Amino acid sequence: MVLLVNKKHIFNEKDIDKFEMIEYENYKEEVLFVESETFKHYEMLKAHLKVDGIVIEIDDAYRSLETQENIFLKFMKKYGMDYALSVVAMPGTSEHHTGQAIDIIINKDGKWISENDDLLKETEIFERIHKSLKHFGFILRYPEGKEEITGYPYEPWHIRYVGEDISINIGDMTLEEYLEK
Ligand code: DAL
Ligand code: ZN
Repeated sequence: MVLLVNKKHIFNEKDIDKFEMIEYENYKEEVLFVESETFKHYEMLKAHLKVDGIVIEIDDAYRSLETQENIFLKFMKKYGMDYALSVVAMPGTSEHHTGQAIDIIINKDGKWISENDDLLKETEIFERIHKSLKHFGFILRYPEGKEEITGYPYEPWHIRYVGEDISINIGDMTLEEYLEK
């Protein structure tokens, strides 16, 4: 099931039962929840990238309304309201609520790169990751130059599972453009 969740399409909490979540312990020994099909395909993507020498991990996946609110408040305190509003979805409007969005981090020379600013510098590695996404049912959800449509600046780490039917056919479109075309 592919739900469009953005500033205009609010996630209905009642829909959460439609998503089967599995539990996963990440590199920081944090227990995360990921939608089951998303996780299965993430594991395949991860294995495929490893062959190419790229090591990825899940930094974040499913978020409850409360978690999203806490992230928003954390950003607001640290960077101010305007910046928080520009990069963090308000609770109810984040596609992390579906468990089908994953924020990935990368391991380079044995070190985890997890800060957004540092990840943004890894253009060559992300280019290789992004090329592989569609074969595993993922899309890059907030591409460069599509801020007006998605509502968010470029996020190379935020991938969304949409299934191969969409990931193969979506081309350069955003999920908004594809589902509303
Ligand atoms: N950073 C993305 C937009 C979110 O908070 O869901
Ligand atoms: Zn994200």
